[in-house]
Amino acid sequence: MIIKNIGELVGIVPAGVDRKCGAEMSQVDTLRDAWLQVEDGRIADFGPMPDCPGGEAVDAEGGMLMPAFCDSHTHVVYAGSREGEFLDKIEGRSYEEIAARGGGILNSADLLHATSEEELYRQSLARVREMMAKGSGAIEIKSGYGLNPVDELKMLRVIRRIRESVPATVRATFLGAHAVGRGYTRDAYVQAVVDMLPQAAELADFVDVFCDEGFFSPADTDRILAAAAAHGLRPKIHANELAVSGGVQVGVKHRALSVDHLERTTEAEIEALRASDTIPVMLPGSSFFLGIPYGRARAFIEAGLSLALASDYNPGSSPSGDMRFVMALACIRMRLTPAQAFNAVTLNGACAMGVSGVTGSVTRGKRADLILTHPGWNLTKLPYTYQTPFIRQVFLGGNVFQNL
Ligand code: NIG
Ligand code: FE
Repeated sequence: MIIKNIGELVGIVPAGVDRKCGAEMSQVDTLRDAWLQVEDGRIADFGPMPDCPGGEAVDAEGGMLMPAFCDSHTHVVYAGSREGEFLDKIEGRSYEEIAARGGGILNSADLLHATSEEELYRQSLARVREMMAKGSGAIEIKSGYGLNPVDELKMLRVIRRIRESVPATVRATFLGAHAVGRGYTRDAYVQAVVDMLPQAAELADFVDVFCDEGFFSPADTDRILAAAAAHGLRPKIHANELAVSGGVQVGVKHRALSVDHLERTTEAEIEALRASDTIPVMLPGSSFFLGIPYGRARAFIEAGLSLALASDYNPGSSPSGDMRFVMALACIRMRLTPAQAFNAVTLNGACAMGVSGVTGSVTRGKRADLILTHPGWNLTKLPYTYQTPFIRQVFLGGNVFQNL
């Protein structure tokens, strides 16, 4: 299959480049008036229109072709919703107050417990399909609304089933330590999480801990991550959302693939990350929804770090998986350039879930996970006119994805 008359082919990256760091994040390589050939679900070749090979072709009619989004941090497997808390929030209660009243993550855990595995799959799959329709081609999904051995494994099985039934690339993260499960003391629950690791490791690619004020301490996190390493699980952790928590440092100590959130950081966190290959991931959708500070994205990039951006799609702090809106928030509220935001939601997002060797850029041999826009679009217009529909077709593994 050939896509011809592409107005601009955006996000071309040489093979072997797994991420963009610092000043490289301002660079987006493109080719105007181009074609791209897909073979066996992969990008076989691309070039300028005068050299376009013959054969069956989709006419892009001048639309932009770009890599599908890579959303490296989501909690889309959950049951029901938390609309009641949305009303509490409007009345002025903070995320911490809602959690302390037994709402928040524990509320989702109760709902998940009362929902059958089949129904949980059905509800979660609908969200994943919505995300694919909005252009996400690689999605990380966390457990963490089970909070006991039976329900955490139920969540991980649902993630596995989604992974096997969708054309997107899915990665699973065991977030047993998302909150202290009902009926446990914190110490007993940390031990329970450690005890869940052998079974969780059979279903998950990564381990996560919510290392933050009111949730798990750096010492708890250290203990869980040390035990997880013995089961081959690399960390991707929640840190510094609610306070300067020490989470970044403990993540770096355990060679975390990513440390995520980072709404509250100092120079010490930037220095710790500079001495590591851990990727910082920021989640502007939760800053927007909770009304908390945005991460200091520019400072991180200026320090030479690679930055990824993800949706954090979850029922409590970011009920949206729209990566184009994430890009818009990054530009409007974090003052990233469209090029920086683009690299953060594509290649660097792929890197933050260990899949940048197979997706996240226009590279020969990578999966043909692509967004074809309507004619007249360019990279700057995406976050600028941030609500105007722009997607003409989403290709996942070379096939047109249709959300029927
Ligand atoms: O990433 N911060 C912790 N976990 C989620 C929120 C989960 C929830 O409220 O359900 C987050 O924001
Ligand atoms: Fe999260």
